[in-house]
Amino acid sequence: MNKIDINKSWNYASAAEGTEHIQLKSKYDLFINGEFVKPSSKKYFNTINPANGEHIAKVAQANKEDVDKAVKAARKAFKSWSKLEPKERGKYIFRIARMIQERAKEFALIESMDGGKPIRESRDIDIPLAANHFFYYAGWADKLEYVFPNKSPKPLGVAGQIIPWNFPLLMAAWKIAPALAAGNTVVLKPAETTSLTALKLAELIQDSGLPKGVVNIITGAGETGAEIVNHSDLDKIAFTGSTVVGKLIQRSIAGSKKKTTLELGGKGANIIFEDAAIDQAVEGIVNAIFFNQGHVCCAGSRLFVQASVESVVIEKLKDRLSTLIIGDPLDKNTDIGAINSAEQLATIEKYIAIGKKEGADIYQPKCQLPKKGNWCRPTLFLNVSQSHTIVQQEIFGPVLTIQTFRTIDEVIEKANNTPFGLSAGVWTEKGSKIFKLSKKLKAGVIWANTYNKFDPTSPFGGYKESGIGREGGLHGLKPYLKFEL
Ligand code: NAI
Ligand code: MG
Repeated sequence: MNKIDINKSWNYASAAEGTEHIQLKSKYDLFINGEFVKPSSKKYFNTINPANGEHIAKVAQANKEDVDKAVKAARKAFKSWSKLEPKERGKYIFRIARMIQERAKEFALIESMDGGKPIRESRDIDIPLAANHFFYYAGWADKLEYVFPNKSPKPLGVAGQIIPWNFPLLMAAWKIAPALAAGNTVVLKPAETTSLTALKLAELIQDSGLPKGVVNIITGAGETGAEIVNHSDLDKIAFTGSTVVGKLIQRSIAGSKKKTTLELGGKGANIIFEDAAIDQAVEGIVNAIFFNQGHVCCAGSRLFVQASVESVVIEKLKDRLSTLIIGDPLDKNTDIGAINSAEQLATIEKYIAIGKKEGADIYQPKCQLPKKGNWCRPTLFLNVSQSHTIVQQEIFGPVLTIQTFRTIDEVIEKANNTPFGLSAGVWTEKGSKIFKLSKKLKAGVIWANTYNKFDPTSPFGGYKESGIGREGGLHGLKPYLKFEL
């Protein structure tokens, strides 16, 4: 049968979403005690669209004084918020969820403009999941006694929360929803390249009538994050980001009263057995590593294919890569959007160069890339071994390393041979293999015959250098509570 060259056979007409109806200010201040206030530093930084380099807005840079103001506001609000009848707390959280749903389209567009992710993903995954986290935790606010019977659960107090740029609104929801449900107040800092949806969330929270100071959202880069970590009047630090910064945070808070949860990097193994449904597995490989440009802590960035099906899987995978559409994040056809920042693109390119230098075979489809903005072709590395740098370190981009295996024990050993332990995927028609691997793989989340599926009811977190603690589900409430027997 002749193969159809999809790229030559038809072209998709552009289907870009319009942005006329979204409302963005030219300059954003800090959200402290229910008001937008100017930063003490008087400094602002630019947030840009990584798909074209265009300036979107100015964002305030919070310094030590601003962090202190935000913590004081949260501390003051904690007194009444923690005493509010739990079902009333639940109602506020529920209202935030509903309002996110009502404004979902605007949030999706801003998420894609500011961060580069395809609108299909922000529209169908990030924003609905963010709303779902608020819905889910709203339901627990008045049931904590049932979740932890005879343990008298009490809120911790004020939480400092620092989030990354790969799922900006979703990570804000992961942090804020359980904290509020458990009766805490928060100071949240989004990542410097993707502050806008958190600031839109601040506007929404203002509209929701949530008591002042319960949620404070302050912007800035690493120095602002460090000021939060080092503030003496916080009870908890919740962090999602790089393992390097996670380790720094652990060192900074050692010996203090602060509790932590750390959700850090990963190098997920995606394992394809010869008895797997190969076409579905190939879709799964693509979803595991190219979803959100590979800026995913649980990405399936290490592929293990059983040797007997190697050639067929690689051939189908290469074919599939040639059909992926890379480009305008606001176009509904786009599969792979822009790399989040020039810095991240430089990191990915550095790893691609290392991969080549260390002798791995590279494959990239010959797709056209836009002229402006930060772009990276989907990349496969073949003929790699465990010792390759690109197999050991997190790249956080659309780069997949491919290895083969013969036996189940061999793949378990290879998959676990990493400093990380966040996620894994197993593709096989045999349930017994799934059970064996899900027991033996040292990873917090293991998907069977699927990948990158998220749900607010399901706990998420890692082993080893992938972090400490769990978010989501009932597990996600626990790190925001103390138990007084
Ligand atoms: P990062 O860890 O520096 O940034 C994450 C958040 O931490 C941001 O809000 C940032 O402003 C803040 N931050 C930075 N330095 C801090 C400090 N000293 N104290 C407190 N907060 C601080 O991540 P970055 O540099 O943007 O990305 C570097 C690498 O980290 C990526 O290539 C990727 O491998 C990994 N990463 C992993 C993420 C995950 O979800 N596990 C998310 C983001 C990055
Ligand atoms: Mg941006």
